[in-house]
Amino acid sequence: MKGIVLAGGHGTRLYPVTLAVSKQLLPVNDKPMIYYPLSVLMLAGVREILVISTPADLPNLQRLLRDGSHLGLDISYARQDEPHGLAEAFIIGAGHIGDDPVAMVLGDNVFHGNAFYDILQRSVADVDGCVLFGYPVSDPHRYGIAETDAEGRLISLEEKPAEPRSNRAIVGLYLYDNNVVDIAKNISPSARGELEITDVNRVYLERGKARLVDLGRGFAWMDAGTPESMLQASQYVQTLEQRQGVRIACVEEIALRMGYIDAAACHRLGSQLAPSGYGTYVCAVAKEFGHRTG
Ligand code: G1P
Repeated sequence: MKGIVLAGGHGTRLYPVTLAVSKQLLPVNDKPMIYYPLSVLMLAGVREILVISTPADLPNLQRLLRDGSHLGLDISYARQDEPHGLAEAFIIGAGHIGDDPVAMVLGDNVFHGNAFYDILQRSVADVDGCVLFGYPVSDPHRYGIAETDAEGRLISLEEKPAEPRSNRAIVGLYLYDNNVVDIAKNISPSARGELEITDVNRVYLERGKARLVDLGRGFAWMDAGTPESMLQASQYVQTLEQRQGVRIACVEEIALRMGYIDAAACHRLGSQLAPSGYGTYVCAVAKEFGHRTG
């Protein structure tokens, strides 16, 4: 399965902060925002990843993530000149996707939950059509919303409805079979002139090929696209990290635990970041995994 991190857009809801800096490079507590969606793909076992962003932001994203080989990944880059909608990612990324299924994650989405690794592994292994993930929210008019029947089967999908039929948001992580490229090429722009991901998902729903996986209330999902939600995400991560002494979405640790890099490589990466608490943590994880220094 191929991966896409969509890190486009102008981050207008964060102006003036994002006038000169990409939203996805802003910190969520101790690390750049994009580490969170990137770790989702890594945990799903997806290693060939296309990062899509604006021409202005791509150089900085590239400076951060390079070609991904230090993390045992293969990261490439493509530009989205103007934010024409999330579904445009499948047209821009058609060459990268090739004949494979694809997982797309939004560059400002933060996920955290105990069983997430298992959910991801199970979901990735069984993509017949599309797999969407639902999560209860208190402000459903801000999201793509799923309606289900009494048996939990998906019956409708709406993008930012004025009168939501449920409080179950569709989170910014989507798994698709290879038909997604053709579907994205054939949908029409919405009233706001965008190729909506919800319209792609609706095509799958009409074909009886859309599955909804509930992430449940014990899970944490946040989008960090506004000053409030960015701060909330930072506070959530900071609280857990300080309490437990572990780091969420530490890409070096995930690369090590997933077997993408060895302990020595992980230690080298940590040493390069050593003056920070993050770097010290990466070194400690490497040592715990058997790396010997000196
Ligand atoms: C997008 C999607 C929406 C989804 C949300 C998740 O909205 O259009 O369906 O629920 O991401 O973050 P946006 O945040 O781009 O307005």
